[in-house]
Amino acid sequence: MVKTDIFEHFVRKFDEDKQQNNIPEWTYSWYWKELNPQFGSSKGYTGPIELLNWYVGQSSSRTYPNLINDKNFDTLLEKSIALDQRIFANPLFLEYEQQRTKLSFKNYGTYNAQDYFFQTFTSHLFGKNISNVLDFGSGSGRQLNLWSQDPNLQTFISVDAMPQNYCMQNVYYQLIGLDLIEYLWQEQQFEVKNHPNKTVFHLPSWRLEAIPDNFVDLVIAVQVLGELRPEMTDYVIAQFQRILAPGGVLYVRDHGNRHNPNKVDIKNLIRSYKFELEFEPDLEDLVQIHGIPKVWRKK
Ligand SMILES: C[S@@+](CC[C@H](N)C(=O)[O-])C[C@H]1O[C@@H](n2cnc3c(N)ncnc32)[C@H](O)[C@@H]1O
Repeated sequence: MVKTDIFEHFVRKFDEDKQQNNIPEWTYSWYWKELNPQFGSSKGYTGPIELLNWYVGQSSSRTYPNLINDKNFDTLLEKSIALDQRIFANPLFLEYEQQRTKLSFKNYGTYNAQDYFFQTFTSHLFGKNISNVLDFGSGSGRQLNLWSQDPNLQTFISVDAMPQNYCMQNVYYQLIGLDLIEYLWQEQQFEVKNHPNKTVFHLPSWRLEAIPDNFVDLVIAVQVLGELRPEMTDYVIAQFQRILAPGGVLYVRDHGNRHNPNKVDIKNLIRSYKFELEFEPDLEDLVQIHGIPKVWRKK
């Protein structure tokens, strides 16, 4: 049974945590939305319909151009589509039949497959396995789609701070069906560690310190680092350096200076935290690809 009362847990736990600790406001602020209130606040949540509506929006509102011509890519795209088809066939969504008829998973599947392709291919080239993954600023939770199907995955950690996105992620992760350790449901101590089964940990960005040093092989930060308050961008990159194992990958995908609300020089900042740029394709943003992927390696 899918639990749907996640928003109440978010509100309660956030209040408790704020009373017990000094949590800086910049850890849970979405700077881009603060600058652009016309796009809504992401602070409310009305239930799983929001996940469905998000996917309906992604089915038609924009297209993700693709130039990757590779049979492995085609397989990834098929796998992403098949899993999303299964997820949205869940009885949870049956009452929204009209919305469901508008779903098409190819567009978002292309975005997923590109990310997974670029996240993994340099590691595959150099014979490194990725088993522990952190997705920071997870949106709808889409990165878990292909990672849940990766035979080497052991632990997937997702971090966000906005109630609407956080709650959608929780539903998407429950529907994927791996073991889920949700920070908001834990009354006891919350500890991120490898379990015998593939496990998903979901936690808010004011609890990043719960992730051990050198724990993950890959950090994913797609369309997020330029949208945070500048203090938060600095803080999270420092945290990525701490959390990543030596030689681990920081995967960043964004529009560079085309869309950089906080005006932080992100590439320079990442370099200053001792990462080396390993790969950046020479593609025209928004024409050949939606957001340029960059693979950074922790020195
Ligand atoms: C443009 S969306 C990108 C979503 C996702 N990475 C993707 O590619 O589909 C930005 C994400 O960052 C999250 N976010 C905004 N402010 C945050 C903060 N202070 N801490 C953690 N996540 C934050 C939002 O909730 C949202 O999920």
